[in-house]
Amino acid sequence: MLLICLAVLGLTGSSLSAAIPPPDATGSRNKLLLVSFDGFRWDYDQDVDTPNLDKMAWDGVRAEYVTPPFLTITSPAHFTLLTGRYVENHGVIHNMWFNTSTQEKKQYYQTQFVDSYWDNGSLPIWITAQRQGLKAGSLHFPGTAATYRGETVGVSQVEPFLYDHSNETDWRLNIDKVIGEWFHQQDLDFVSLYFGEPDVIGHKFGPDSPERREMVQQVDRTVGYIRDKIQEHGLTDRLNIIITADHGMTTVLRGGTFEEITLSKIPGFSFKDVKFHLVDYGPAGMLLPKEGMLEKVYQALKGSHPHLHVYKKEEMPARLHYGNHPRLLPIILFADPGYVINGFFPVQFHKGEHGFDNQVMDMKPFFRVVGPDFKTNLVFRSFETVNVYPLMCHLLGINPEVNDGHLDNTKDMMVPNKKNKLNALSQVVVGLSAVTVFLALVFIMTTSYAGCKRNRVERSFNMEHAAGYIGEEKTDIKQSSF
Ligand SMILES: *[C@@H]1O[C@H](CO)[C@@H](O)[C@H](O)[C@H]1NC(C)=O
Ligand SMILES: *[C@@H]1O[C@H](CO)[C@@H](O)[C@H](O)[C@H]1NC(C)=O
Ligand SMILES: *[C@@H]1O[C@H](CO)[C@@H](O)[C@H](O)[C@H]1NC(C)=O
Ligand SMILES: [Zn+2]
Repeated sequence: MLLICLAVLGLTGSSLSAAIPPPDATGSRNKLLLVSFDGFRWDYDQDVDTPNLDKMAWDGVRAEYVTPPFLTITSPAHFTLLTGRYVENHGVIHNMWFNTSTQEKKQYYQTQFVDSYWDNGSLPIWITAQRQGLKAGSLHFPGTAATYRGETVGVSQVEPFLYDHSNETDWRLNIDKVIGEWFHQQDLDFVSLYFGEPDVIGHKFGPDSPERREMVQQVDRTVGYIRDKIQEHGLTDRLNIIITADHGMTTVLRGGTFEEITLSKIPGFSFKDVKFHLVDYGPAGMLLPKEGMLEKVYQALKGSHPHLHVYKKEEMPARLHYGNHPRLLPIILFADPGYVINGFFPVQFHKGEHGFDNQVMDMKPFFRVVGPDFKTNLVFRSFETVNVYPLMCHLLGINPEVNDGHLDNTKDMMVPNKKNKLNALSQVVVGLSAVTVFLALVFIMTTSYAGCKRNRVERSFNMEHAAGYIGEEKTDIKQSSF
């Protein structure tokens, strides 16, 4: 009997530490705001005074950095945040849509409106949340304009054509809309909010420029403004904020003995052997050789420049998760940090670029969280951004779609949730009442054996033992509750 009782207590203890039920189970789901500042490198706050980001780190959790998916460019990396899938699994393989038969290409902005490009089998979190009864919104976030399996994000503002990404007044109007109208008035549960800086300034002036540092101060003021607005609307204790980015930025090398990568100058390579190409777009490119020309093109390019990596699609390093999608072309090229890939002649004059290997430190974005479900003043180990999606689903209390991330990689940044505290408490109560029943039975049994002294000694020993277990279970529950 005692053994059964202890076994019951043991089981409840271990099931508690294994299962991490979503925080909504008590009906106290908090709202969630996902903010992306395009191209905000992990260390951009280190050479600028950023009081608001510092305050947020103090009040919440700051990851050392996070690792974006390859290709480290805007649409693919943002769609990974929204789906938890690597790029070869979600299919948004580039900022540009293209058709290799018609040679047609669409730039980033026009690609936003090609539904079939975005809706390639992975559902962004807005749709999953809506299917499970939540209300979602998105402002300017890549992927906002598209329709997924016939459904769009319920509340949205799509970026206007030729939008000025740096206008701080406009940023504040957008924040007023998201916090004041969408969260406060319309009671949305989840909103994704996108800012196009400091990416634009990083490209134009380089990541080490005073212009970039100034823009980081604008970002910092904006973070303060977001938190003030949330406070103003009484949402501070009901809204979690995740602030991150899609990729970082590195300085493009030029001048001196520096040797540009220009494909047309490579001996043995000719664009005549290529049916379709996507180059002149930063450090990565793709080629579709003409019928029977794959080997020739590949052999000409492979090893042709010490800073150019050339792969047949199926030979791409598995860790990049960028080799296994029908949209990827047969030859994939990418350059070392500081280099860009030019086609016929150099046409790229940015001072900063991204799109490099996601192992390169300069490609890593920042990641900060604050809110009722997060611990405070915690610096967290780095993780891949595929893990942001399962974290967001957990915070919203929704079942995630199949994804490449795992909650284990972020769960320690959250505070133990109320449901589990309640759960732990009720299980201690259940455990205690089981012990009471047991003791009552022991009492009945032993009183019927009245007179046997030896039995009584044994009994009191067992009772103490049982009490000790309860105490231990209590401590265990406290430590493992989530
Ligand atoms: C590319 O264009 C061809 C010819 O118009 C068309 O058959 C094909 O479906 C298009 N592919 C994509 C991905 O749109
Ligand atoms: C994804 O896109 C590829 C190539 O464009 C296409 O062949 C495939 O059917 C699409 N998958 C889904 C689920 O939409
Ligand atoms: C910035 O945005 C505001 C609000 O949309 C607009 O009134 C103002 O003219 C813009 N400023 C510039 C310099 O474009
Ligand atoms: Zn970007």
